[in-house]
Amino acid sequence: MPTLPQRAQIVDVGPRDGLQNEKQMIPAEIKIELVDRLTDAGFGHIEVTSYVSPKWVPQMSDAADVMARIRRKPGVVYSVLVPNTQGYLKATESPRALWPDEIVVFAAASEAFSQKNINCSIDESIERFRPVTEQAQQHGIRIRGALSCALGCPYQGEVEPDAVAHVARRMKEIGVQHVGVADTLGTGTPEKTKRAMDAVLNVYELDEVSGHFHDTYGMATANVYACLELGVASFDSSIAGLGGCPYAKGATGNVATEDVLYLLNGLGIETGIDFAKAVATGQWISGILGRKAHSRAGNAVTAKLAA
Ligand code: HMG
Ligand code: MG
Repeated sequence: MPTLPQRAQIVDVGPRDGLQNEKQMIPAEIKIELVDRLTDAGFGHIEVTSYVSPKWVPQMSDAADVMARIRRKPGVVYSVLVPNTQGYLKATESPRALWPDEIVVFAAASEAFSQKNINCSIDESIERFRPVTEQAQQHGIRIRGALSCALGCPYQGEVEPDAVAHVARRMKEIGVQHVGVADTLGTGTPEKTKRAMDAVLNVYELDEVSGHFHDTYGMATANVYACLELGVASFDSSIAGLGGCPYAKGATGNVATEDVLYLLNGLGIETGIDFAKAVATGQWISGILGRKAHSRAGNAVTAKLAA
């Protein structure tokens, strides 16, 4: 039996990866309250929004307003996704106190997805990010990379670990400090996950990688467990399982934060997050969106409390 990590880090990406996919426009006040509730629940890392083109993702067009009005707790990392220099400049045109602590750049392990998502090739996307990461380094802003389609692509199908390693190497070259291995489509299974993770672990250290699993096929918590077995202890998840990627049709949201917390709590792995508050937040945002939460654990606990 491999020894599992004693502590794990959860990055709640619900406000960004989750809400970016909502058809109904969500007022900035709700997004701000969501981030504030996550902060209150003890999350140490929250992906707040993205500075992408409003023509491509209108839902995120209020990024600056949201960043300006969230209540920041010292020590918590508030990150934003940026697709290019224009996005970076927008993220840093406000007074310094409102800047993100971390930016997330993203590249795919599949050429076809790269074209659909950001309208350029993988290599072009890396070159596009080079000036972004250079500026972030000068400003002392942390740089995280999301490596999309690491376990499969909606357009191309299979993705080989070599392709994943190639993108990880290119990310390292431009100064990306941490890589999230992303199952954009949510088709991955544990052995596949381990192969993709291993490919990235040839390039990055254990504490520099995380798992970012969409839960389309219900495999995400199994994939989290597979990563724990490798010693990986950082995961992106979405409160209430919000979301999906607008350019991965049919893919559902990230694995629900409540489900990952339930798994980690059951394994005795510490996160510093208040499970009850996380569940309440998931139920609250789902109520606002007018649907049931996509969290098995969150819904089960809520039903039990109501009984
Ligand atoms: P493009 O059309 O090739 O770029 O889009 P462009 O440079 O020709 O710009 C087009 C227009 O957008 C111009 O405006 C620009 O000014 C504007 P116009 O002159 O037509 O009025 N523009 C911007 N405006 C605001 N902020 C910006 C920005 N950039 C350009 N940053 C581009 C290229 C990358 C901009 C576009 O494709 C884009 O924004 N894509 C974002 C796609 C996206 O957000 N996808 C979802 C996030 S990724 C994800 O969810 C995956 C992840 O979760 C991991 C996983 O699960 O795999 C991270
Ligand atoms: Mg995602």
